[in-house]
Amino acid sequence: MIRSLLPLGVALLGATAVLAADPPTCGLDKKCPKEAPCCSQYGQCGVGAYCLGGCDPRMSFGLDSCVPAPVCKDKTYKWDEGTFKDYYKDIGEYLGDSSKVDWVGQGYPKAHDGTVLLTMPPKSVGTVLATTTYMWYGTVKAKIKTARDAGVVTAFILFGDVKDEIDFEWVGTQLTTTQTNYYFQGIPDYVNSANITTTDTYENWHEYEIQWTPDEISWLVDGKVGRTKKRSETWNATSNQWGFPQTPSRVQLSIWPGGLESNAKGTIDWAGGKINWDSEEIKHYGYYFATVGDVEVKCYNANSGPGTNKKKSYYYNDVSATNNTVVDSDKPTILKSFLGTGTDMNAGASPSGTDAAQPTVQSIPGGGNSPPGQVPGGGSTSSSQTNNGGSSSSGSSSNTGSSGSGGDCDVTKFSQKCDSGSSSSSSTNNRSDGVRGAERTLGASALAGVIGFAALLLF
Ligand SMILES: *[C@@H]1O[C@H](CO)[C@@H](O)[C@H](O)[C@H]1NC(C)=O
Ligand SMILES: *[C@@H]1O[C@H](CO)[C@@H](O)[C@H](O)[C@H]1NC(C)=O
Ligand SMILES: *[C@@H]1O[C@H](CO)[C@@H](O)[C@H](O)[C@H]1NC(C)=O
Ligand SMILES: *[C@@H]1O[C@H](CO)[C@@H](O)[C@H](O)[C@H]1NC(C)=O
Repeated sequence: MIRSLLPLGVALLGATAVLAADPPTCGLDKKCPKEAPCCSQYGQCGVGAYCLGGCDPRMSFGLDSCVPAPVCKDKTYKWDEGTFKDYYKDIGEYLGDSSKVDWVGQGYPKAHDGTVLLTMPPKSVGTVLATTTYMWYGTVKAKIKTARDAGVVTAFILFGDVKDEIDFEWVGTQLTTTQTNYYFQGIPDYVNSANITTTDTYENWHEYEIQWTPDEISWLVDGKVGRTKKRSETWNATSNQWGFPQTPSRVQLSIWPGGLESNAKGTIDWAGGKINWDSEEIKHYGYYFATVGDVEVKCYNANSGPGTNKKKSYYYNDVSATNNTVVDSDKPTILKSFLGTGTDMNAGASPSGTDAAQPTVQSIPGGGNSPPGQVPGGGSTSSSQTNNGGSSSSGSSSNTGSSGSGGDCDVTKFSQKCDSGSSSSSSTNNRSDGVRGAERTLGASALAGVIGFAALLLF
């Protein structure tokens, strides 16, 4: 049944695939080249959306290659079905205006009855949503019903561009366990996870909350503190710094297939086993799904750094990317087109050069979204069928080259992160290794992940 999605999916992807089949990868030891200066959350280099949310300045050509990140905004996010297409955009449709768009993402989100369903249709890599603004400390709460079944992971996390991370994660076979975790700059540390026990997270709404200050993180369920981690407990004598999340982070909500056959064994085991695309859940609903109700963000609102949100945007003035290197500034955040970068935000602005407006490097990590297709269920579809990769930016709407992805079956899509969140080995993006080398052993990841647009071969 999923094959019915293919023709359009392949066509949409074709346009970008042709531009650069193989974008350069990036990591701490391998910065992006000048012509594709931005290192995306996926560990690959490009322009346009690569330079927006998730762009890691430490791995980019210059610290100023990434576009400055919109500052924290106090807001309770509700999910109005009728206007979903206005406040949610696929990353292939978003140029950085956080005053108009609250959430960006990839996959198959569906607003439904005051909630948003994060869906994962058969053989997809699920759905990820991220706020367009960044919290620099503060409090975030979300009402969630998780997904269920082996290999299906639900996540609610804070994720920074330099890979500081604070997580809630749920494995679909352990529905009374809420896993918590945190990372400093994506450095894997398998002793950081801890569990909170609750009633069934699939059947019941719970309110999950992260309270984050420069000194402490608390994870709460239904208003009750389930875990606290103090900064003072995180001193790393080797690196001489606190191993504590401390930089502006987006709120991310996701569902992803930890039990995908092509993932590392450690990931599959952690996720409760291999995913079954023929499950009762799939037969009944047409997808795996998690349901998210209101999400409330309260900024830390410090009067002086760290933790301010007084101006427009955050950027980093040093590669160490610790909390004293974040600048709360008036720099603009909006690109004129998907040709833009942090150092050339107006690129592609002039209408004169229709000929010159074609990006020669990737501009949408993951190749944009593929269409939601006939996934059953209520709600509006997340994103229009115009979400193709670079072509929406350049004005070239033709899908020429659609056969570029060749053949019968590769719906090349973003893939969500399936390892520990280590960002150092990103040169190993590879279909066969589940995106990143590092075998996850114990706990969890980061997911938010999304890495490696390189894409899993799903069929
Ligand atoms: C958390 O729960 C999971 C699933 O029950 C288990 O595998 C893991 O070891 C637990 N983690 C900790 C730190 O207790
Ligand atoms: C301490 O920092 C070093 C260097 O960044 C890192 O390799 C190591 O994993 C860190 N240790 C812990 C416990 O986080
Ligand atoms: C963040 O900055 C504050 C004030 O400069 C400092 O006291 C604190 O230790 C820093 N926190 C971390 C986690 O580095
Ligand atoms: C990717 O996988 C292929 C085939 O499995 C292997 O030959 C190649 O070395 C891998 N590349 C990287 C960067 O790991």
